[in-house]
Amino acid sequence: MNKESLASHLPLHVFDEAIFENIVDDLVNKGYSIQLNNLPAFIVDALLRCQATISEEEYKTAGIGRADDFQHATEVRGDEICWITGSTEEGKLWLSWCEALQKYINRTLFMGLFSFESHFACYEPGKFYKRHVDAFRGQSNRVLSLVAYLNNNWSEKEGGALKLYIDENDNEGVTVMPQMGTFVVFLSEQFPHEVLPSTRDRHSVAGWYRVNGSVNDQIDPPK
Ligand code: OGA
Ligand code: MN
Repeated sequence: MNKESLASHLPLHVFDEAIFENIVDDLVNKGYSIQLNNLPAFIVDALLRCQATISEEEYKTAGIGRADDFQHATEVRGDEICWITGSTEEGKLWLSWCEALQKYINRTLFMGLFSFESHFACYEPGKFYKRHVDAFRGQSNRVLSLVAYLNNNWSEKEGGALKLYIDENDNEGVTVMPQMGTFVVFLSEQFPHEVLPSTRDRHSVAGWYRVNGSVNDQIDPPK
């Protein structure tokens, strides 16, 4: 049996659930999870290889919703993004790992996560994403956010931290450096956060789990 036909006979993927268990514990206790350098190496590797297949032209200036003009958007966020479609094996591996996490969370927390979408993001030097929430309560079906980082040897003096605020009154925040292999998971409606400007290109993957159904006739932001 050659490699391809062998692969097609194997179960989809079996992932180590220890990390998932750790994330779920954190979500129960705090509503967010910071995983320092804990993204499995083969997933980091897949993301880097997937990213390498994307040309500069495929990155698009990110918006902040259907109705917003880009001039306004750039005052809020300055990143360029490229959606991960699963058109490459590496992209598929990332999406299936995220799906395995989704299933684990649904099994243990009954969150009813229904779908997942994610994109690469690049912040050039000086770019930022002002304090925001990924979803407003009752206005969106984005319920869980995930951000993973892809920057080798990031040092604090280069800036680019993610600041995660534990509620709308928190101005201090928890600081996360965008170091390769670090990732965070948090409830989308609960945690305001921002990306501080950096002195070098800052690469990440951001993703969101959604629950099913449109709520209050709101239209989802376009991809
Ligand atoms: C986002 C976001 C955080 C980061 O894309 O919505 O908040 O650290 N990203 O890149
Ligand atoms: Mn965000």
